[in-house]
Amino acid sequence: MQRGGRSQSRRDGRPPGLTGKEIGLYYKNLARERKKEAKNENKIKIGCDVSVPPGVLTRVKEYMEQLKAARETGQEQLDAKFQDQFRHLLSVNFDAFIEETKKQNQDLQLRNSSLDAQLEELQRERFQRADFQERYKERMKLPTMSHAAEIIKAVEKNQVLLIVGSTGCGKTTQVPQLLLDDSISKGMGSGCRIVCTQPRRISAITVAERVSYERAEALGHSVGYQIRLESCKPRERASITYCTTGILLQQLQGDPLLHNVSVLLLDEIHERSVETDLLMALLKIILPHRPALKVILMSATVREQDFCNYFNTCPMFRIEGVMHPVEMLYLEDVLALTKYQFDTRKNKRARPRSDQSDHRPMIEPYIRRVRDRYDSKVLEQLRLPCSEGCADIDFIANLIYYICTMKSEGAILVFVPGYSQISELHNTLLNPRLALGQRWRDHLLVYPLHSMLPSVEQQSVFRRAPSGKRKVIISTIIAETSVTIDDVVYVINTGRTKVSSYDIETNIQSLEECWVTHANTQQRKGRAGRVQPGICYNLFSRAREALMSEVPTPEILRSKLESIILSLKLLHIDDPYAFFPTMIDAPAQKAVSTAINLLNRIEALDNHGQLTPLGMHLARMPIDPQMGKMILISALFRCLDPITSVAAALSYKSPFYTPMDKEQRVDEAKRRLSQNMRSDHIMLHYTICGYRESRQAHRDRDFCYNNFLSKMTLQQLERMKQQFSELLYNSKFLTSTNCMDESSNMNSEKIPLLRAIIGGGLYPNMAHLCTSRQIKNRVRAIHKMFTDDGRRVNFHPSSVNSGKSGFDSNYFVYFQRQKSTDLFLLDATMVFPMALIIFGDGVESGVIDSTHYISVAKTYYFKCNPETAAVVIDLRTSLELLLLEKALYPAPIKENSDAYKLIRAIELLLSIDDKIGEDYDLMSADEIDDI
Ligand code: CDP
Ligand code: MG
Repeated sequence: MQRGGRSQSRRDGRPPGLTGKEIGLYYKNLARERKKEAKNENKIKIGCDVSVPPGVLTRVKEYMEQLKAARETGQEQLDAKFQDQFRHLLSVNFDAFIEETKKQNQDLQLRNSSLDAQLEELQRERFQRADFQERYKERMKLPTMSHAAEIIKAVEKNQVLLIVGSTGCGKTTQVPQLLLDDSISKGMGSGCRIVCTQPRRISAITVAERVSYERAEALGHSVGYQIRLESCKPRERASITYCTTGILLQQLQGDPLLHNVSVLLLDEIHERSVETDLLMALLKIILPHRPALKVILMSATVREQDFCNYFNTCPMFRIEGVMHPVEMLYLEDVLALTKYQFDTRKNKRARPRSDQSDHRPMIEPYIRRVRDRYDSKVLEQLRLPCSEGCADIDFIANLIYYICTMKSEGAILVFVPGYSQISELHNTLLNPRLALGQRWRDHLLVYPLHSMLPSVEQQSVFRRAPSGKRKVIISTIIAETSVTIDDVVYVINTGRTKVSSYDIETNIQSLEECWVTHANTQQRKGRAGRVQPGICYNLFSRAREALMSEVPTPEILRSKLESIILSLKLLHIDDPYAFFPTMIDAPAQKAVSTAINLLNRIEALDNHGQLTPLGMHLARMPIDPQMGKMILISALFRCLDPITSVAAALSYKSPFYTPMDKEQRVDEAKRRLSQNMRSDHIMLHYTICGYRESRQAHRDRDFCYNNFLSKMTLQQLERMKQQFSELLYNSKFLTSTNCMDESSNMNSEKIPLLRAIIGGGLYPNMAHLCTSRQIKNRVRAIHKMFTDDGRRVNFHPSSVNSGKSGFDSNYFVYFQRQKSTDLFLLDATMVFPMALIIFGDGVESGVIDSTHYISVAKTYYFKCNPETAAVVIDLRTSLELLLLEKALYPAPIKENSDAYKLIRAIELLLSIDDKIGEDYDLMSADEIDDI
């Protein structure tokens, strides 16, 4: 106490207990800190003048007065009342939430004895039927079926069971059926409701179809599926539902104890998706409250012990598969067999992959080791970086022709990283340039397999090819475990896949192509040995394989956490810092705090980390909260169509594809489409408009071809836009489900407004361009630009802003940064300061050296007279109130309503931006060095 008292009395806050030298050091540090602070203060540079001309300001003020007058007539009180109710809803913690739902469900009667008898009878009849018998015979060949009795017993005896078995042994299709049929035949069918989660939409549908077929029933009878926006639910009782993991997470929000489920199967947990990891952690909380709930975890043979440990060494049941042997060949062997020669000229022109620099140090020592075993011509090819992976699509096509020529019957399954390689190989096989390809073209049945394909197209992939034809399936990672195609005998493993990564330090999330792991290769190999001995052709060398990691990094460790934190809030799991460490792999604390900070800045969470009404809406949307906020505001502000185009393309992918060697032509096309708006995002909107127009004129093929656009992606984007609109309609933000409806697009032509809303949505991803200098006769420009964490960035060459100068504003928002040779903004929209001031956060006004300013997030300072500052800050308060009100009572803002005055006021402020550009000089180069 004494010491504490003494230290408190010190004015400078020197900590107690320091000795002589330490005291000296303490003051030295203090002086340094102060100097730094002082320098920081001086560093504030006040940017352009954003003061609004008096005439305009007066009109803005008038609108605001009208709005206020309307508010005072009573609405405010209602807001306060609703806000209270909302807060109460949020104040219920997880334990209370659980108790609440327990009470609600205590009278739930699952069993019904007359139904039990009926079900039993129906089952007996079904077992007699010839079609069932025939299919049952097939099922009996699956390894899982030979363990039927043991599995049933193990489930009876344990609350949690881990089933491990190689892919294709029958876990997904058989285990749920075994349990359902067992409970029906024991006269307990009415209490049996089985839910089995699948990692992907396509597997939920195809498995449900398969299982209905095996049961000789129509889909939707005892077996059904449920995926987002699409379902074919089975009967209420005595049923199996295959659903995506996301759907189950959503159901937990309404019924955290899953009272309507008797058996829950978590499938494919070895994939370590965020969703299954989350569900496992949630199950650990749920299980003690639901002693009757059975949980079955199912995994391929990948690090299964981790799951067993996580569930307190729960019993593990192993199903050994009956796999045929699969021969493993590597790149060097494939080169020796096919005698393929790479066209080095063609491959040199392609943009080099970022991980190609490690090729030489890897391959040279290996070549020395295997010199005696391979022909020197083979080694020469092996030395080329383009020989590996899927850099050369013609090489893969050539290998397919080799198999067709030399090998006996059997389907070929090719693993490539993503959609662009699928379509490239697909095109190469169907429109071959070489005679060899032309000879085989009509003998091939080529199936692309990709998670975004419409479900109808996905089924045909399972059918056997008619005689004389060979089935070739080109797939992403989804055919690795979650989709099983029986007749595959040959697997071509390019070894490449797309993986999202997240760098906590730079807060950059990106989707990159990289090498697979040993675990992936093992699974892929297994796909070849299902019906007979098979061959796996790996398009990488043994040396490459030695460098690959054992298993993939769990997704949660390479993800941004904003959406996850928001959805946990809906489950009443309030403290992410406490919850994440309970997961099988916990994300770093810094990733958690970065996410919370962002959620706070976009006003999804308040300063206490509580969900705001806006946050609740964002949590319910299936997209990134920043994108969610953007489309929500666009609904209120009635410019839905352009903004949903932006949100769809940013959440899914750009509709542009870049053929090898054509980068510049693609960039030119984008620039044409951008109409010089200095915005990659408005360009996307124009692109979709252009596509629609061309479609009406039946010229969409040309339009897509000339502009390097993927029609499939464009169609998918339209579907997503439609989904967003339906979602916003369902939560009453829109009066129509059509994103092109006139009422939702009254302001869609107003570019300054679009710019501001894109800015508001992508905020706080900001960059400030300090200088841009045109060089080389105005064909290129050098940019000196920084993001607000002080990192130097550049426009990516594929951005329409790259190489441009003469911007009307020096502020940009972006969605993604990417680090390759430099740090790049992959996409950017020029925004005006006023948009930042209206839609940004931490807006303050003040005076420095007798200059009045207004600042955003203590980062961007603009000269601004006090009158403008006062009006703008007042307007921000009204906007906040409006958002709160709309979050509580969702409805579009009616034209000529009082709230519409606010939009008019904002529009007025934004419309003067164009004038700012004229007298706004770029800072000179010497000024920059101070920044
Ligand atoms: O889950 P696991 O990988 O252990 O195997 P499964 O998905 O239950 O597959 C067992 C068998 O069902 C496969 O060998 C396929 O013959 C068949 N199946 C199918 O024909 N169509 C599907 N959509 C899924 C499975
Ligand atoms: Mg499975």
